[in-house]
Amino acid sequence: MNSDQDTKSLYDGQASQWQRTGPVLLSDYSARPFVMDLCEPLKGYSILDIGCGEGYVGRELLKRGAARIHGIDISDAMIEKADAEKQKLGLENATYEVRDIRGLGDSEFQVDTVLAMFLFNYLNVADTAEVMKKAYSQLKHGGHFIFSVPHPSLAFLKQDKYPFYFEKRGGYFSGRNILFPGEIWRRDGIAVGVQCVHKTFEDYFTAMRYAGFIHMPEVHELHINDEHVAIDPEFFTPLIDLPLHVAFKVKK
Ligand SMILES: C[S@@+](CC[C@H](N)C(=O)[O-])C[C@H]1O[C@@H](n2cnc3c(N)ncnc32)[C@H](O)[C@@H]1O
Repeated sequence: MNSDQDTKSLYDGQASQWQRTGPVLLSDYSARPFVMDLCEPLKGYSILDIGCGEGYVGRELLKRGAARIHGIDISDAMIEKADAEKQKLGLENATYEVRDIRGLGDSEFQVDTVLAMFLFNYLNVADTAEVMKKAYSQLKHGGHFIFSVPHPSLAFLKQDKYPFYFEKRGGYFSGRNILFPGEIWRRDGIAVGVQCVHKTFEDYFTAMRYAGFIHMPEVHELHINDEHVAIDPEFFTPLIDLPLHVAFKVKK
């Protein structure tokens, strides 16, 4: 089975469920606002959004003051949605392209921020390191690389499905590079399929070092808080006290 085709088919097939103009998915509450805060300050900044999907995050960053967004995604359907929304909103400072990020050349861009929101869960350990190296080369000196991934422990701590899970297909170490299928729910009850090529915490640090980053990264383990529960107790309560996602921010 060609796992690259799987990722593209997965997202081509469910682009409509991802299309959004406000928070819909669990991770739109539990991860994206936090990672967008990590991208601050944004005023006047150029951003390369790798694995941009249908462009929701990029559009939010433009609203927050970013000067320019370029999004790259392997899924034609996701990029079609991003382009359609760009046309609808008249966003001249947003551009998108369909491309496998593993084919990105060195230093094709010179941006203030490279963002990879839940991209690396689709790449194996070696490709993650290579893509981080490419990300490093697209950054201006002093720019930031910001990425979020599923928490490496989540599949081993949470067995119940609703409203977010990955099904472990091996142990914490023996499962490295194995694809764990999962689902994440929207608040309207629709589940979307997601995947995680399992990596350990060490893998992410090793990849950053291989890429050339020498500064200490900020690391945040993202979880459900009281504000989430106040919005929708039924939806968020099953996830209290679980490490859901990790966000990293590292300076070039
Ligand atoms: C979980 S979605 C996240 C989308 C967006 N970053 C967000 O946070 O809303 C992961 C995205 O990564 C894209 N992707 C996966 N592998 C890729 C690759 N090799 N090259 C480019 N995009 C890829 C998928 O098509 C999908 O749109």
